[in-house]
Amino acid sequence: MLTSRRGAGAPGVDALVAELGELGAEVVVVACDVADRVQVEALLAEFEPTSVFHAAGRDHFDPVSSLSLEDLHAVLSAKVDGARHLDELLGDRELDAFVLFSSIAGVWGSGHQAAYAAANAYLDALAHQRRSRGLAATAVAWGPWADGGMAAETGAEESLRRRGLRTMPAAQAVLALHRALADDRTTSTVADVDWSTFAPTFTVGRPSPLLSALPEVRDALDGGAAPTSTASAELVARLTGLPEPEQDRLLVDLVRTRAAAVLGHGSTGSVSADRAFRDLGFDSLTAVELRNTLGAETGLSLPTTLVFDHPNATELARLLKTELLGTEEGADTVLPVAVGSSEDPIVIVGMSCRYPGGVRSPEDLWRLVADGVDAVDEFPTDRDWDVEKLYDPTGKAGSSYVRRGGFLYDAAEFDADFFGISPREAVAMDP
Ligand SMILES: NC(=O)c1ccc[n+]([C@@H]2O[C@H](COP(=O)([O-])OP(=O)(O)OC[C@H]3O[C@@H](n4cnc5c(N)ncnc54)[C@H](OP(=O)(O)O)[C@@H]3O)[C@@H](O)[C@H]2O)c1
Repeated sequence: MLTSRRGAGAPGVDALVAELGELGAEVVVVACDVADRVQVEALLAEFEPTSVFHAAGRDHFDPVSSLSLEDLHAVLSAKVDGARHLDELLGDRELDAFVLFSSIAGVWGSGHQAAYAAANAYLDALAHQRRSRGLAATAVAWGPWADGGMAAETGAEESLRRRGLRTMPAAQAVLALHRALADDRTTSTVADVDWSTFAPTFTVGRPSPLLSALPEVRDALDGGAAPTSTASAELVARLTGLPEPEQDRLLVDLVRTRAAAVLGHGSTGSVSADRAFRDLGFDSLTAVELRNTLGAETGLSLPTTLVFDHPNATELARLLKTELLGTEEGADTVLPVAVGSSEDPIVIVGMSCRYPGGVRSPEDLWRLVADGVDAVDEFPTDRDWDVEKLYDPTGKAGSSYVRRGGFLYDAAEFDADFFGISPREAVAMDP
């Protein structure tokens, strides 16, 4: 039984039904909005499924700052409400499979897809929750598919490829689904990623502890853009034969030309020497592309944060000049500069902490550890907790099987309003 809101009215349904029929399947197509509980209930009353594949979903691209509640609702309803309705209405019914079509957006995030990412993260969590209830559940977080569907239809394939995400042929993705089911996995991520492109772009703003666990990502980030000493020598030879103002002009023009090309401008004129790269429209993807192209051209190993650290063509050209020709005094050896991720300068401007045991500073914490202080004490009485009811020696969910713990006794004095945190959120954050 195939279902969607348009049901038999969806384009291509007849051909699909015919194809499935030739393969020996008896197919029924029914219109049903899975976001509507009543419709799902009626559907399940009519058909008793042995397996469920929840692939209904909707994409949405918008920065989170301009995401409206309506947008959020539209994106969440098919995926989240649909999954919840199926899960709740099927109850404990034994199924061969309960498959949730999720996305890499929910696993590691995706620019301008906050609502979509949240919806998919819900599906992954639901899979775990069903498993913990002893029920079938398999969530697969897909990378982009080829051969039709969201990624192909939004025309995003080319921009995804530039970011290192290649589309997967549908047959290959289906094989991966078979494997996830055969291996009885709760959640899997299936994507065709070119890590050498994806990793530097994805981590340009901040590191990703999740992805850095992958050896391919570590290699991609440690390697950076490989310096090609020939290109460097040629450029240095050209530069050394020129008077200084000409050297500056050559390097600024080099940066402007490459920046214009990366941004897709037809002429260098669109990139003026002193205009900030950010204002010209550079983002993490184009920043890394410019780093790569300048790295290849100069033979220098340049950091991915290049355009953020040197914010316009003049500044960036100045850096290239120093790296290629040495300081103004004239160093005669050209040394490509490798900036490894481990060499980021870290400056500690202040430290603060609050811990059980009356710790209010790093020094207090050190004393607590050095003196072996026991910071465990009675439950606080100013949190609206019913301490007597909370205690249950059997350790049932929602209770505490101990009567003492490590607490911040003045946490109730936290001024949530001052930090712009709602009272409900403050209660949820209460350590
Ligand atoms: N294609 C990809 O590259 C990709 C990558 C990662 C994850 N995914 C996930 O895989 C799933 C399928 O993607 P796709 O590319 O096939 O998407 P698609 O071509 O846009 O198809 C989505 C389907 O969901 C149905 N639908 C939407 N809202 C519904 C609702 N409220 N009730 C019932 N059906 C509803 C749509 O039909 P109606 O409009 O007729 O309801 C449509 O048939 C989605 O969940 C998507 O997030 C896809």
